[in-house]
Amino acid sequence: MTAIDQYAVFGSPIKHSKSPRIHKLFAEQTQQTLIYASQEVNAEQFANAVSCFFSAGGKGLNCTLPLKELAWAYADIRTERAELSKAVNTLALQSDGRILGDNTDGLGLLTDLKINHEVNLKNKNILILGAGGASRGIILPILEQSVISIVIANRTIDKAVTLANEFAHKGMIKGCGYNDLDDQRFDLIINATSTSLSDEIPPLPENILSKNGICYDLAYSNKPTSFVNWGKKNKALKSLDGLGMLVEQAAEAFFIWRGIRPITSSIIELLNSERF
Ligand code: ATR
Repeated sequence: MTAIDQYAVFGSPIKHSKSPRIHKLFAEQTQQTLIYASQEVNAEQFANAVSCFFSAGGKGLNCTLPLKELAWAYADIRTERAELSKAVNTLALQSDGRILGDNTDGLGLLTDLKINHEVNLKNKNILILGAGGASRGIILPILEQSVISIVIANRTIDKAVTLANEFAHKGMIKGCGYNDLDDQRFDLIINATSTSLSDEIPPLPENILSKNGICYDLAYSNKPTSFVNWGKKNKALKSLDGLGMLVEQAAEAFFIWRGIRPITSSIIELLNSERF
């Protein structure tokens, strides 16, 4: 008897992850036979847990907070987009036994923005809030959209400046603190901080969002996040959370593992109908 292919998401906290549900829906839709579980794994446990998973026959893993940088370091080989972002959210066992690291977050965000919400990034001024692992994965794909510029604002200014410098050879990008944002206007503001998890928002000056500007929170929740509410209050044309990105990055991971791309629209619709 052939064993069923095993996949999982590792992270901490992991209890509320929607990934097992999403991958189950993908597997049903594409008629693939697989198991996708979730496992609470912290940074200290990471290397051992990943080794055990693949030694036991596991085929692929998603890694979420706080493990993406560790997953990058763990991978034997990496795609270019993962290499540059220094963060990996997808590990895939290769036929030669090596572990491939990829990062599907940026593509997931772009697909959600461009295809699902018809937001065009060309010639736009973009503000990214936060300079941690979540920001890393999305910078390069956004820079590649012919944007005018990206500003990264962060509470710890040094981190924003260092991160921006890493991508400076790829386009117009700079890092600063929140106080330096006065008098600037942005067409798209992306919240990549962890503030929504504690119902806070970063200290943004007034009138920072352009007329018809868009707000996007990489976080998602069963109720509007604090940043989605900030966007609505500041008259964003659209104020979105990261559920669509979650489904799209998962679809890309599914494609890497199974070679088949699920149709995401009906699944996003279903998950949206179950909240708010
Ligand atoms: P992730 O991998 O999700 O990016 P992280 O690396 O811990 O997680 O980064 C969290 C980000 O949220 C950081 O940019 C952090 O700012 P600092 O670098 O100054 O710590 C930001 N953040 C967390 N809490 C915040 C708060 N209350 N106000 C503003 N920024 C906050």
